[in-house]
Amino acid sequence: MRAAFFALPLVGLVGCLMPTGFGTGTGDTPSRAGNESGTTVTEATGKYAPLPTDASKLLPFLRDENYRDYPHDEGVRPSSGPHGVAGVRRYVQPKLASSQSAQTFEHPSGAGAVLELYAADGATRIGWAVSVKLAALSDGGANWYWLEALDGATPTLVDEGPGLGICINCHASGDDYVLGAPL
Ligand code: HEC
Repeated sequence: MRAAFFALPLVGLVGCLMPTGFGTGTGDTPSRAGNESGTTVTEATGKYAPLPTDASKLLPFLRDENYRDYPHDEGVRPSSGPHGVAGVRRYVQPKLASSQSAQTFEHPSGAGAVLELYAADGATRIGWAVSVKLAALSDGGANWYWLEALDGATPTLVDEGPGLGICINCHASGDDYVLGAPL
């Protein structure tokens, strides 16, 4: 069923999605420039790394765990949705975290979250699901960018795009396409 699809046996899709070649080369990830320690706080916002909105930047961002400083779940927990096998761990970009606590009707541009997806052992990360808002108004979901990827030395893109139907069909029932309760 759908749950199986999101448990990341999305793998079946990978073969036709060209996991390589979407990189744009080097030097285009300023948020990581000079970041030898692997910490995630960046120059770009003064504090928290903004979520990239295209796969070429978002995949290395996920690989390097540049979302680590975002407010997050204490540990891996079962998903109330179809994500992960054993569970998920959610990292909420602070623009979304503060918008959720303020109970804003429309979240601001740049709001979003990273869901780490875990295998049946509850410890092995198998991938990520990401949402990021592209503009102040959602426009029926068209202005939310979505991405799902498999973990690995080089993370593999499963699917991505603004207004991705498979994601927004379900997320539309949330508050401005966000389904998780505030942290
Ligand atoms: C069948 C329903 C459903 C579908 C389809 C779905 N999600 Fe979710 N998603 C959820 C639920 C429920 C949550 C709440 C958190 C949880 O799992 O506990 C969630 C949470 C999330 C979150 C954390 C932010 C939030 O909204 O709480 C992200 C990021 C996310 N999903 C990404 C995606 C992506 C990317 C896709 C498409 C590839 C997708 N989702 C498809 C149900 C769904």
